[in-house]
Amino acid sequence: MNLNHIVDLSEFPITELNKIIDLGYKIKKDYNFYFKSMENNILATLFFEPSTRTMLSFETAMIRLGGNNIGFDNPSKTSISKGESFTDTIKTISAYSDLMVIRHSLEGAAKLASYFSDIPVINAGDGGHLHPTQTLTDLLTIYIETKSLNNLVIGFCGDLKNGRTVHSLIKSLSLYKNNKFIFISTDTLKIPKYIRRFLDQNNCSYTETVSMDEYMNELDILYMTRIQKERFESKVIYNQEKDKYILTTEKISNSKKSLKILHPLPRTNEIDINVDLNEKAVYFKQLKYGVYARMALIVLLMHDNITIPISKAFELENKICINPKCISQVEKSAKKLFKKDKFDKNILNCDYCDYLIY
Ligand code: CP
Repeated sequence: MNLNHIVDLSEFPITELNKIIDLGYKIKKDYNFYFKSMENNILATLFFEPSTRTMLSFETAMIRLGGNNIGFDNPSKTSISKGESFTDTIKTISAYSDLMVIRHSLEGAAKLASYFSDIPVINAGDGGHLHPTQTLTDLLTIYIETKSLNNLVIGFCGDLKNGRTVHSLIKSLSLYKNNKFIFISTDTLKIPKYIRRFLDQNNCSYTETVSMDEYMNELDILYMTRIQKERFESKVIYNQEKDKYILTTEKISNSKKSLKILHPLPRTNEIDINVDLNEKAVYFKQLKYGVYARMALIVLLMHDNITIPISKAFELENKICINPKCISQVEKSAKKLFKKDKFDKNILNCDYCDYLIY
């Protein structure tokens, strides 16, 4: 049986993405209509990394749909602490539930899980790689708040290197028409090469700057991000980077009246709390819209109403992914799988983490 897994939204055609956004919008207006649509279904949440919003909004979504939850948020209390492998854990959970949601610190974890699961797998964040359901939340938020997903100038500010929500959202927004990206970061935390390459190859317009002020008056959306302390190899570099960008009411005084400020949260110090009172700040609405987006995704996925093309990967025994954060580096059961690069026949992409292999 072909299962629909939600690992990377860039595999989604725009038609399927729009189905989720449209249903999320409908659910926002009246979610009681979908109550009981997941009755007798069990959602498993496997959180190997901390979470407040993603885990609890998935659980809330399933309860609102009349289903049930099982899962863990502390792997040290599971048999993993006795030496059980990640993939044996996946096989076990897939025997107990109907749908699983995974967050893991290693890149490609959800993709690997999808090869060992008999039920749909949803990626709830894999290291610094991707976070597709946050992207659905962000797209729904932009759609609700601006009534469009096209012709927008979107500024991303902060840790653009490690922010997986940024990477996923850029890829999806580039599918819509005439969006322009402004990347605001220090040189150390700039957007990864593979994302810049993705935008170049898709003819998407983007500009990089270190200044928070330079383009502020042009922005329709400002997407603020946290400096991801847990992804830094050196505390010294983290301390150099933190607090470089702090959004204040003064900083947005010149911005468009219609500007919307998003943040996937959690916030640390990058948005002054006084900004919360400004009508441009929509990040607390955004976390509520995350429940609607996840309800829509669950309903469509479980009722087989979305179709996701499966990317074709092939095994190469003599190649390895050189990304030290890739799950294929540590999981023995991970086959050495690669995909052909869409634009350059001399390059391969790791099937799990998308790392470029020359
Ligand atoms: N936005 C987000 O992923 O939040 P959590 O880490 O709290 O799930």
